[in-house]
Amino acid sequence: MLSGRRVVLGVTGGIAAYKAVEVCRRLVDAGVHVVPVMTAGAEHFIGRTTLSALASEPVQTSLWTETSPIPHTLLGQQADLILIVPATARLIGAYAAGLSTDLLTNVLLATRAPVVICPAMHTEMWEHPAVQHNLATLRQRGVYVVEPDEGRLAGGDIGRGRLAAPERILAEVERVLGPRDLSGLHVVVSAGGTREPIDAVRVIANRSSGKQGYAIAAEALSRGATVSIVSTVDLPVPCGAVVVRVDTAAQMHTAIAALADDADIIVMAAAVADFRPVAAVDGKIKKEAGVPQIVLEPTPDILAALGANKPAGQTLVGFAAETSDLLANAQSKLHRKQLDLIVANDVSLPGVGFEHDTNAVTLVCADGHVSTVALTDKRAIARAVLDSVCRIRTGNDSAG
Ligand code: PMT
Repeated sequence: MLSGRRVVLGVTGGIAAYKAVEVCRRLVDAGVHVVPVMTAGAEHFIGRTTLSALASEPVQTSLWTETSPIPHTLLGQQADLILIVPATARLIGAYAAGLSTDLLTNVLLATRAPVVICPAMHTEMWEHPAVQHNLATLRQRGVYVVEPDEGRLAGGDIGRGRLAAPERILAEVERVLGPRDLSGLHVVVSAGGTREPIDAVRVIANRSSGKQGYAIAAEALSRGATVSIVSTVDLPVPCGAVVVRVDTAAQMHTAIAALADDADIIVMAAAVADFRPVAAVDGKIKKEAGVPQIVLEPTPDILAALGANKPAGQTLVGFAAETSDLLANAQSKLHRKQLDLIVANDVSLPGVGFEHDTNAVTLVCADGHVSTVALTDKRAIARAVLDSVCRIRTGNDSAG
């Protein structure tokens, strides 16, 4: 999504400037053309050579270059986004007041591109009313502020003011630059495999890691959605998502039912057990008692229940984990569970489905549209799934 975009990375004079180097590297790895601009203060903390070596072009620091008579206007006009890492109290104040004191503040005033600032400073400075007032002014003007974290600061004291982690900064850049086609929509995603208790220590489980569900959640967030994840696993939570933690199919059913009425899009990526023990034994079944007879019963089919009670305007997406007859089985589930889209993966193939970082899928829509996505990372699969959802919803909108 970021590939080919042009980002001016402004670095100002705070100790967190060294972390801008990592942010720069990650942006370049994602295919971004990074144009680095450093203030005089930043040069006290990191060398130009470091940033020039990692960015897409040499660092610029001055308004008065011989190569370009108006560097600030060009940089501002050509950028898809201006990112400031870290943003000091001075930079925030100058930007809020409209002061063009150096190349970076000139670029900020001479651009129409979105601006993301990542403040980092001591807690006392962060909490100062002047700084908070300036930030409020910038927010009102549409500047995106990545709030600092709480943690150990330079000098060893603990408090708010530590630069946000690089992944949070990157997520915000993605969110701001990405398509906003899910803006205003609530997406509910299930992730992970359910665990049905046999006794106090044993469960019937499956190999779902939750990676595919979390990738869909992250992609939906970056496209502007509000996201709830009903999850059986503890993966890092994509910034901004709300997680409801569950274990069994029955708990997942209850959690999703509570969210379903307000959901615009539901994606069931979880691997839900089809059967569970009729009753879990209290305590641990003792080996000495011989091989136990475990009687199973069906779990609730969450997706089928959602399909049977689907509110108008909701888009319902299921997954199908198959080991043979992929298309026929997927089409049967699509119709039986009254879905708008089913994402079928042949989990017997190498690199596909459970636990892998990659997947390969066939997307089958209720309107008959079928497409395939060859083996790729789960985020790219998530993108294809949500592209299909948007196509279906646009079709529905224009039909209605
Ligand atoms: O989590 P990962 O390690 O990243 O792996 C991803 C995945 C392989 C789990 C994912 O890509 C996937 O295929 N998820 C669906 C797994 C599954 O349970 O498929 P199924 O064909 O058995 O079920 C069909 C659909 O009905 C699924 O959307 C499932 O969530 C839903 N279902 C199934 C049973 C049940 N009792 N209730 C349900 O809602």
